[in-house]
Amino acid sequence: MANWLTFLGAYIKDPKNIGAITPTSRYVARRVIRQIPATARTIVEYGPGNGAVTLPVLKGMPRSAKLIAIERNPAFVETLKKVRSAKLQVVHGNAQDAAKYAKKPDVILSALPFNSFPESLKHEILANTAKNMRKDSKFVVYLQYSRVLEDYLPQYFSAIEHEYEPRNLPPSHLYICSGPR
Ligand SMILES: C[S@@+](CC[C@H](N)C(=O)[O-])C[C@H]1O[C@@H](n2cnc3c(N)ncnc32)[C@H](O)[C@@H]1O
Repeated sequence: MANWLTFLGAYIKDPKNIGAITPTSRYVARRVIRQIPATARTIVEYGPGNGAVTLPVLKGMPRSAKLIAIERNPAFVETLKKVRSAKLQVVHGNAQDAAKYAKKPDVILSALPFNSFPESLKHEILANTAKNMRKDSKFVVYLQYSRVLEDYLPQYFSAIEHEYEPRNLPPSHLYICSGPR
């Protein structure tokens, strides 16, 4: 499903918005799942792509949770709509409008390509995300090789933990953010 060739094909067509030539590895997906509390009921995923993190999260999240996956690429949306799960809602839309689809979720996951976004879009997504979080919500961001968000996250979140996963191509940095400002 989350296969490399379709992902690479999407990257070649739209490099700035896809932002990576390979999908996220299962090792990163495991780290992401560890961040989802057992009490979580609503989880939002920005930029699910062809499901590299979506599918493991569906399996690993609490049984009564639902996952709302917001993707701007229509081909990926079609792929994800074929996933048979009553717990998954696939939205063809933009992460910056997430509050329209889920108000104050417990966890927000993101593999968006922040490194290729213009300044204004980086700020818009982070500001809207912080605004749509409760004090105890978590924002989990994973980026391939890039540490670009380290200058931005502290402007929007008061607590940020960093993890590094070398078993990803290229290695991945994860940031677990809470305490929206
Ligand atoms: C680096 S890929 C990550 C895909 C997948 N989550 C993974 O980890 O393998 C980034 C994804 O974000 C999507 N995307 C880019 N900008 C977006 C936006 N503003 N709103 C929603 N999705 C977006 C792209 O279409 C792409 O599927």
